[in-house]
Amino acid sequence: MNGRDRIILFPFMAQGHLIPFLALATHLEHRTGYTITIVNTPLNIKTLKSSLPPTTTIHLVSLPFNGSDHSLPPNSESTDALPHHLLPRLYHSSQTLQPSFENLISTLTNQDGHPPLCIISDMFLGWTVQIANRLGIFHSIFITGGAHGASIDFTLYLDPNSQPDSAEFQLPGFPDSFRVHRSQLKIADDSSDSDSMFRFIHLQFNLCLSSDGFLFNTVEEMEKIGLEYFRKKTNRPVWAIGLLKNEGIARKAIDVSAGRCISWLDFHRPNSVLYVSFGSQNTISVSQMMELAMGLESSGTKFIWVVRAPHGFDVDGEFRTEEWLPEGFEERITERKQGMLVKRWAPQLEILSHGSTGGFLSHCGWNSTVESLRRGVPVIGWPMSAEQFYNAKMMEELGVCVVGRGEGMEIGRSEVVRVIEMVMGGKEKGEEMKRKGLKVKEMIEEAVREDGGSLGSSVKALGDFVMAAVSSKKMIGGDF
Ligand code: UDX
Repeated sequence: MNGRDRIILFPFMAQGHLIPFLALATHLEHRTGYTITIVNTPLNIKTLKSSLPPTTTIHLVSLPFNGSDHSLPPNSESTDALPHHLLPRLYHSSQTLQPSFENLISTLTNQDGHPPLCIISDMFLGWTVQIANRLGIFHSIFITGGAHGASIDFTLYLDPNSQPDSAEFQLPGFPDSFRVHRSQLKIADDSSDSDSMFRFIHLQFNLCLSSDGFLFNTVEEMEKIGLEYFRKKTNRPVWAIGLLKNEGIARKAIDVSAGRCISWLDFHRPNSVLYVSFGSQNTISVSQMMELAMGLESSGTKFIWVVRAPHGFDVDGEFRTEEWLPEGFEERITERKQGMLVKRWAPQLEILSHGSTGGFLSHCGWNSTVESLRRGVPVIGWPMSAEQFYNAKMMEELGVCVVGRGEGMEIGRSEVVRVIEMVMGGKEKGEEMKRKGLKVKEMIEEAVREDGGSLGSSVKALGDFVMAAVSSKKMIGGDF
């Protein structure tokens, strides 16, 4: 049988990667005539299935995977289901998917009568490039993070000599303000698994360099320096096709209904509520939870805080707020209607889209970053790991973020109060951040503009990417 050309998408097993891949799949579904197939492990496929509308034409395919073969706890196939110390096992286990992925491509090739138009994979699945090259299929890496972050990450992992000896560190070509302190680099992590994680990422990034190009969920005008740097570094085409819309993509089950959060927000004045969340896989320590709680309470700011179990506690275990938070904290803030605690997972997009939300205290994972930028919500950065520090720096450059975390990991309650007052307290800095936030929002809207005479830069970039796949020597066809 001769089927339509197919685009295969293969995200890494983490919420922060699955969500943007699903957004990309939906984007491609609506803008091209190709068959879109997402590949992943069974539990993630189940979650993706429940996230898609019944009318979808996107195909979902599971590769066999059993967590217990990799000493992972039952039902844990994505980073959010695992405590921090088990994450390296999940990363390493992803490499065992190679034979079944290659078999799948052969099966789909037989079924369609021709190979897929292209494979788009995650940067942590660099080995997919080897399979694509072997089978003569166009390949692109989809970087679900930002270009500033990826540039710095690729430099540090591919060229270990570029790691700083000195406390302060700056990449050539980056603005002077883009200095980071050694303590802020993930790569400076000295946990027992850091060597094996370094080797894993070094290997995957090296493999990525043989891909035919890189797609980014970012906007050319917003991350010019990072994108240019990445182009020079990899010597590959780079297409900035964001920011992808991820509304309508259902997420994990939530502990409080979206309705309860919205009613709570409805009760408050415009721009008066601070939303606090550290994403899907990071948690802070008990002592940091205490400092944050005391800072939030004494700032007097209204807030919604998504509380996850702190370091060292089971992410899905029983909630011990009496141990993790100051005595009587939850009762006091609830009674005064100052704050709302949401356990584990909140309807983030609904909260960020609400007019009462005036700020976001965030770990600056890329999805949280783009979700706030697209809505013009000013950010208080509390970066913790991965490329989050660079995302925060990039937003600081845009004038829409103040970074709470300086050198070292700990943030005291007085610092929490200081940055909250700066952003939420009606001061000039906060007002300026709001104005700049609206400018960035407009820049993003311009980049994704599909109507009228001139197409936005991200729309053009997606067209260029599809043309590159179609006209690649490896594959001819397509009806974009
Ligand atoms: C991980 C890495 O830590 C980060 O450095 C990288 O940029 C992306 O992957 P993660 O913790 O998943 O980040 O955070 P983020 O990228 O912000 O993604 C979280 C997603 O989950 C967002 O789309 C957010 O809207 C959603 N979310 C998170 C919720 O809907 N509710 C929540 O309570 C928490």
